[in-house]
Amino acid sequence: MAHQIRAVLFDLDGVVVFTDKYHYLGWKKLADEKGWAFDEEINHRCRGVPRLASLQVILDHNHVELPQEEKERLADVKNEYYRELLKEINEEDLYPGALDLLRRLRAEGTRTACCSSSKNAQTVLDALGIGEYFDAVVTGHDIENPKPAPDIFLLGAERVNMHPYHCLVFEDAESGVEAARAAGMKCVGVGPRERLPSAGETVEDYARIDVQALLDAGRVRSVPAEPWSLTEDEVRPDRCPYWETALALTNGVFGVRGTFEESEPGYDAYPATLVNGLCGYEPYHHIWKMPGFPEYRHAILNMCDWVNIDLEVDGERFSIASSTVRDHCRRLDLKRGIVERSFIWTTTAGTEVEVHTERLVSMVRRQIGALRYSVKAPQGTRLSLTSRTRLLVPSRVMGGEQVRVRETGEEDGIEVAVQELVTSDDAAAVAQAHSPEGERSLEGSDFVFRYTAETGATLDKIFGVWSTMDGPEDDIKPRAVEEVASARKAGYEELRREQESFWARFWRDADLEIDGPVQDQQAVRFNLFHLRQGNPERGNRSISANGLSGDQYSGHVFWDTEMYMVPAFVYTQPESVRPLLEYRYSILDKARERAREMEGKGALFSWNSVKGEECGHVFEAATAQYHLVADIACAIGLYDRMTGDDAFLFEKGAEILFEVSRFMEDRGCYVDHKGGRFCLNVVCGPDEYGCGVNNNAYTNVMTRWMFEYACEVYARMERDAPQALEALRARIGLDEEEVGRWRRAAERMYVPYDDELGITPQDDCFLELDPVDMDLVPKNTDIRSHHHPLNLWRMQVIKQADTVMLMFTQGHRFSRELKERNYRFYEPRTNHGSSLSPCMHNILACEIGDIEDAYGFFRQTALMDIHDFKNNTAGGVHSACLGGCWMTVVHGFGGMRDYPGGLEFNPVLPDAWEGLAFPVTWKGRRLKINVSRNEAGVTLLEGEPMSLKLCGEDMELTAAGDRVAKPLG
Ligand code: BGC
Repeated sequence: MAHQIRAVLFDLDGVVVFTDKYHYLGWKKLADEKGWAFDEEINHRCRGVPRLASLQVILDHNHVELPQEEKERLADVKNEYYRELLKEINEEDLYPGALDLLRRLRAEGTRTACCSSSKNAQTVLDALGIGEYFDAVVTGHDIENPKPAPDIFLLGAERVNMHPYHCLVFEDAESGVEAARAAGMKCVGVGPRERLPSAGETVEDYARIDVQALLDAGRVRSVPAEPWSLTEDEVRPDRCPYWETALALTNGVFGVRGTFEESEPGYDAYPATLVNGLCGYEPYHHIWKMPGFPEYRHAILNMCDWVNIDLEVDGERFSIASSTVRDHCRRLDLKRGIVERSFIWTTTAGTEVEVHTERLVSMVRRQIGALRYSVKAPQGTRLSLTSRTRLLVPSRVMGGEQVRVRETGEEDGIEVAVQELVTSDDAAAVAQAHSPEGERSLEGSDFVFRYTAETGATLDKIFGVWSTMDGPEDDIKPRAVEEVASARKAGYEELRREQESFWARFWRDADLEIDGPVQDQQAVRFNLFHLRQGNPERGNRSISANGLSGDQYSGHVFWDTEMYMVPAFVYTQPESVRPLLEYRYSILDKARERAREMEGKGALFSWNSVKGEECGHVFEAATAQYHLVADIACAIGLYDRMTGDDAFLFEKGAEILFEVSRFMEDRGCYVDHKGGRFCLNVVCGPDEYGCGVNNNAYTNVMTRWMFEYACEVYARMERDAPQALEALRARIGLDEEEVGRWRRAAERMYVPYDDELGITPQDDCFLELDPVDMDLVPKNTDIRSHHHPLNLWRMQVIKQADTVMLMFTQGHRFSRELKERNYRFYEPRTNHGSSLSPCMHNILACEIGDIEDAYGFFRQTALMDIHDFKNNTAGGVHSACLGGCWMTVVHGFGGMRDYPGGLEFNPVLPDAWEGLAFPVTWKGRRLKINVSRNEAGVTLLEGEPMSLKLCGEDMELTAAGDRVAKPLG
């Protein structure tokens, strides 16, 4: 498997071996001869310091002044003593576990280098006989600029032939950590965290290192592998932002990041409640504004922080950063949709206090969140809980004053505030109630609630939000209060029961069971959980690239939803898809406007947006991705085929379909030079490293399918819903002649093919671009910031699955051989710079039988967020990748294809798995697929008889309970 980290560079002294003793003895011998004072403390000050500078430390201590030449001579003398003493060096001087770590790394195929500023490094390696553990050695002889200059590590990377991005450094000195950072490498500090403040990770005991986590994500340890949960068992300030995302709870309507309850947690916390659809606007400042350039960007806003509760015991306030805490643990319970936290706090007076908190964001009551804070303390202890809801909180991606509090009030113990958005017409009401009752006040723009007790307390806080996304402005306040009143009446435990039953049903419909490493199982469930909780199931909202767990992508919705998330939903809980498609309908007018701005007809959806207006200012990799409209059509088609929901299709789906077909037919043209074929010029395919290309195969073939589908839907409406069709035709001015043009464009669509290579060219010029030495291109990172666009556009390097993706999305149109040739041509040219890439490669790799590669792509997808593979999970989960994970298991290893000819399964198992089981909902039926090493079976759990293909053979399922099976070779 291609790991993120492919080379590990080791400093020598203090990392692989301790030469301290010999340095000490060398200096000591010299000092004794000269009659200077020298001890362990002075020796420590000389650690990692060049020889002459070390001598100066000793001279200063002894108040001795010497001419430069004499100093140089004495430094050489010491070096001679040291080299002589080194002959004594032996295994006992090795850093405990270092050789074992090197062995483990090399067994994984990792390249290793020793990068030491010491000119004696080679002598040390030889004396110990450990040179064979390193592929390359860089010593003080090779470099001019010492650490913290990056030179030593850059040379190490060059000598092991690896891009710095894929290198990780082990260093015990802060200057070395800085050097690694300057070289653009990840770094593990060897020694206590306090001594190495710039190291992301530190380790003292090599035996604790989880090599897989190290190679996947540059981390010393992965989160504990558990089948149904994700546990934070160690609080580290630098990892807290990651946990805020991993433990974020949302229901698609609003989401709350997994911040600690207490204020001042001692790190750069981002307590945020993101409400889907509530956005702030700010103008773009274009140097040269061309027609169609967006005037404003908008981004989702942080509306409040309602999870803040501070605990005081006998007047002392709890602080996660400075209090004495043990058994601290936070845990996302995937089965129940709850985050729990527990710890024991010993106050400065020695009182032991047990704390347990729980929180949920209700999937049943989408306006409601709840938090329970329980404390137990010995007799006679005074407890005070202060719960604060901050109504004005900063947003990370949208500065300035974005929210104002219009009014606050209280009704029957429920506090409510109306917040208005400064740059848009939207408004929200947030309401809350506590139980038991306490003392309420408004401090500035914070609702403050104080509750005091003795010995023990359980405080429940119910929070609700109702916004103009949910209904008319006049209603928001009463509705927020009503929702909270009703949730309060139900009580925390009932809310929790509702949550549990929601998730129980979800897991019944969608769980992916893996008989293999627990970490794989955990990862797929974690991804499914975050995916499902991101779906608002409200027809005017969708799922953003980060869901509501973070706002790195400004809450924007991309093609991610239709192409990467809809499949998982449509084959498990298809009813949850309709609102996602309705969201597109709700912004259809904006898409019409956008088409006009782009001098086109029909409708063009904006590449990245929440409210419908285009926010993508890098137009060549945003607006130019016209394939988005075919992707939306594809999701409509999938939903239509799975549900037969004509009401949606004829009322809304068809209108979207016809309007976007109209745009694309108008955008394309018949090109004589291409045999009079219909071409789509100056577009961007999924590969965003290209620009303004002609005939991107993905775009053309997907658009052809869209035209065909639009014609089919038109014909169906003529037959089944003539009145609805008539009304629609009148509304959008559509006639037979135009539909004929779509049919003709589909028939005449230009689909590129290269006879010489026997592959599908990604576009008209891709094969003519400059070949690239992919060893010099870092993987799994967007390299647009590494090159001027004019240079990148010339390079034959691909960001993400493009033609490879087409081989799956329109798989029935291509032979297995062509798929394989395309995969073998494109994958080596792909740097997987987007998290959307590995999953598609997994699916194709499974289909062509490259199962171990497929497993590597599965792990990159499944562990994207758990391992924080791209170092940006703090900004929110990678929503497309969550859905992509489902696709790797079901379409990849499960081999499920839902072609026009019917449903097929061609399962394969990676070596690491013994089995796989998953449910699928298909056209009203529920199926269960079980795969073991020996056999693949499909059971009809519920629904009408059906036929399917299993491992290439036609099979019938004649009644519920029926099972068919085939031996697996
Ligand atoms: C990818 C796009 C994707 C977007 C949001 C980009 O890096 O290239 O395909 O839609 O991220 O996830």
